[in-house]
Amino acid sequence: MSEPRALAKAEALSLGPPGWKHACHALLYAPNPGRLFGKIPLRFAVLMQMRFDGRLGFPGGFVDPRDISLEEGLNRELCEELGPAAASFRLAEEDYVSSHVSEQPQRVVMHFYAKQISLEELRVVEEGATQAKDHGFEVMGLIRVPLYILRDGIGGLPAFLSNAFIGNAREQLIHALDTLQLMPTEQLRKAVKIAQKRP
Ligand code: GTP
Ligand code: MN
Ligand code: MN
Ligand code: MN
Ligand code: MN
Ligand code: MN
Repeated sequence: MSEPRALAKAEALSLGPPGWKHACHALLYAPNPGRLFGKIPLRFAVLMQMRFDGRLGFPGGFVDPRDISLEEGLNRELCEELGPAAASFRLAEEDYVSSHVSEQPQRVVMHFYAKQISLEELRVVEEGATQAKDHGFEVMGLIRVPLYILRDGIGGLPAFLSNAFIGNAREQLIHALDTLQLMPTEQLRKAVKIAQKRP
């Protein structure tokens, strides 16, 4: 499988139908003052989902020709996949992070967004997630990403990164954790390195 290629938003938007489909996904995060076992700082709550295909990914999906903009499509997908609480906030152009193109198995332009919400808003999303239209079908459940390394040196983010991810969701996650400073850069590098060494 060839690596998806990064490109600027303007260039990404110039790739139109019928040759190219566009998809938008979003990382929602909230500052989290909690500590695991009363000790290990949780730092942030970062939402991902277990997909129907057994892979981890971000909520979002294909932008329909009916959607008047990328963000319109993204917000519609978030409501379908996260449930009614997703209507309480909207992702906008200012939340845009990056675009990648993938030609295999089909030609798709993947746009990525990130938005900070409050821990209370994130909890409400989690509570309502089983009422989502796609719950139990395309979405098997929401999860939070562990943003720490346990004392065994593998548990936490390194073990999490060893799961199967859809498309370039894993790279999107690592890049966002770094640029949004959701985890100290040193720890993040260490987690990625440990995950690479695992069989
Ligand atoms: P349908 O309603 O079945 O069309 O699904 P959807 O609209 O929700 O689309 P989906 O979320 O499956 O995403 C569309 C495409 O983007 C798929 O071909 C995936 O390969 C890819 N994709 C899905 N999730 C992610 C993600 O988190 N990151 C990236 N980069 N790509 C993803
Ligand atoms: Mn969907
Ligand atoms: Mn989807
Ligand atoms: Mn869809
Ligand atoms: Mn669908
Ligand atoms: Mn799908």
